[in-house]
Amino acid sequence: ASILPDAYTIRPMRNSDYGRGFLDCLRVLTTVGDITEPQWNERYEWMSTQGKGGYYLLVIDDGTRIVGTGALIVERKFIHKLGLVGHIEDIAVAKDQQGKKLGLKIIQALDFIAEKVGCYKTILDCSEANEGFYVKCGFKRAGLEMAHYY
Ligand code: ACO
Repeated sequence: ASILPDAYTIRPMRNSDYGRGFLDCLRVLTTVGDITEPQWNERYEWMSTQGKGGYYLLVIDDGTRIVGTGALIVERKFIHKLGLVGHIEDIAVAKDQQGKKLGLKIIQALDFIAEKVGCYKTILDCSEANEGFYVKCGFKRAGLEMAHYY
């Protein structure tokens, strides 16, 4: 397993991460929009990040701000004897912090949670440009993504 730089910690996302640049970290991934604190609080509450809702959001904190994040969503199925499937979503590392193995660390941590809670597999969607990163994280190409935008 890779080691985090000194002073960096990886931990579950907290409500107070609104003020620590969590949303700015996500902006390297895609459009986030303006999210007010009450809106943040409501979504945070809904996800109840400690796993009750099947949402596990992790952050990497460098001691001053959030520099990386990623999510595992645990889907409960009927097939495979009430099987659980992990979905990795919204992986983002701040631009000036990329290439320090923070992304790898986030994936390793989410993967560990998925196995621990009993998922029989974890899947994710990514662009061709990111395939090499996920291969380094131990994933392999499987299936094909389809989308219907509204
Ligand atoms: N293609 C090929 N290899 C890569 C890539 C890439 N795009 N990115 C990183 N790697 C390699 C690294 O060189 C490293 O290899 P090494 O162990 O041989 O040195 C290994 O993968 C681990 O790299 P990290 O340093 O952990 O990568 P980083 O911390 O920069 O995070 C990430 C990678 C998350 C893709 C980051 O660049 C990022 O935030 N990009 C913008 C947002 C994004 O595209 N997120 C992923 C969307 S897909 C999803 O969320 C399911």
